[in-house]
Amino acid sequence: MAKLRIGVIGAAGRGGMAQHWHDSNGRSIVVGAADVHESALGWFHRNVNESGFTTLDYRELLDRKDIDAIAVMSPDFTHEQYVCDAFAAGKHVFTEKPMAITTEGCDRMLRAWVDSGKQFMIGFNMRYMNIFRVMKDAIDAGSIGEPKAVWVRHFVGPGGNWYYHDWHASSRNSTGLLLQKASHDIDMIHWLTGQYTKRVAASGALQYYGGDKPNDLRCPECPEKDQCVECQLPKKHRLGGNTMDQCVFRQEVDVEDHSIMMMELDGGIHASYMQCHFTPDYCRNYTIIGTEGRIENLDDTSKVILRMRNRSGRWQNLANHEINVKPAEGGHGGADPLICADFVDMVLDGKRPLATPLAGRMSVAAGCAATWSLRNQWQSVIIPPVPQDIQGKMY
Ligand SMILES: NC(=O)c1ccc[n+]([C@@H]2O[C@H](COP(=O)([O-])OP(=O)(O)OC[C@H]3O[C@@H](n4cnc5c(N)ncnc54)[C@H](O)[C@@H]3O)[C@@H](O)[C@H]2O)c1
Repeated sequence: MAKLRIGVIGAAGRGGMAQHWHDSNGRSIVVGAADVHESALGWFHRNVNESGFTTLDYRELLDRKDIDAIAVMSPDFTHEQYVCDAFAAGKHVFTEKPMAITTEGCDRMLRAWVDSGKQFMIGFNMRYMNIFRVMKDAIDAGSIGEPKAVWVRHFVGPGGNWYYHDWHASSRNSTGLLLQKASHDIDMIHWLTGQYTKRVAASGALQYYGGDKPNDLRCPECPEKDQCVECQLPKKHRLGGNTMDQCVFRQEVDVEDHSIMMMELDGGIHASYMQCHFTPDYCRNYTIIGTEGRIENLDDTSKVILRMRNRSGRWQNLANHEINVKPAEGGHGGADPLICADFVDMVLDGKRPLATPLAGRMSVAAGCAATWSLRNQWQSVIIPPVPQDIQGKMY
């Protein structure tokens, strides 16, 4: 296969990442796209491949013999069906996170994948961000000793802009934001420590968004739009079908905007993850404490702090490093072009993916279990293992 030929399902929004794959002088091209909105297909023609094939029926894309791989970039609740159907059609698959909205759905996807003999990758682009690669390298080099405690604070401000004006805000579409948004962070906790979650408990509530406004109310038509601090006029750069202008105070909104998750991982590691959608600022702060030190990122892109204990065991800092990090060029701190290139390398050269399907499943399993816990009096939940018939058959 000289050049990887890709078809995209979900042409606009996150589907815009296809621009990195459509490199006619490079190793991949994007042959076509499917979407449920004509306007998204127009966006694809204008921004990715002006003469590419487009369709409103994704099965026509899967039927094409001139497509080797499918990238599923549509909303979460579509991933399971599109991925399983793509494997059945003999395609390699990239799917955005979260892998699916249920653990059982992930297991069906894993089974479809191992039966197909094709390649599969999950869109965990945070693994490709320089700031977190620096932290991962330091932890793997043993600089903090054995990781034992992880504290993650996730300020999703202004979360209403991204998560409450559209499908994300209904649990039927996303299960909840402790899965939808936190699937990245749960995965990072797994990746940075090298261990998966085995038990969770969580609390949380819908404290700011949601309310009694009609479900069909959109910001541009709202009589209160001039006073409402949450008013969002259609996002022009996303004019691909999802204009993200539904009222954040509508009745159907039922996903928690503040949640706290406790995790017990293999290897005796304990972690906590906190997410809030009505903070003014956006930041992810990861602190990982090991037997010999701790490491922390000060923001999403620029600085890592590493503090190490005296090896004789005294409570004093022997070393106190500040590591300045530069983000690479491109979306999400340079991660998007890198993950796209890795997908191509995986299919064309057999390179092992950094973001494996098993990692995708374990993140969903922890996020779903935590969401169940916070809706059921914080009961703790044991993470269900991967079904036996597919264990050992996956990378
Ligand atoms: N890895 C990341 O950093 C990152 C960032 C943003 C979004 N995402 C993920 O990407 C996915 C899409 O998110 P988004 O915010 O772009 O969503 P979106 O609502 O903008 O939809 C993306 C595209 O899918 C299309 N679409 C909607 N419903 C569809 C359906 N039933 N079948 C086919 N196409 C459909 C839309 O028209 C749009 O063109 C989600 O799973 C999200 O979690 C990942």
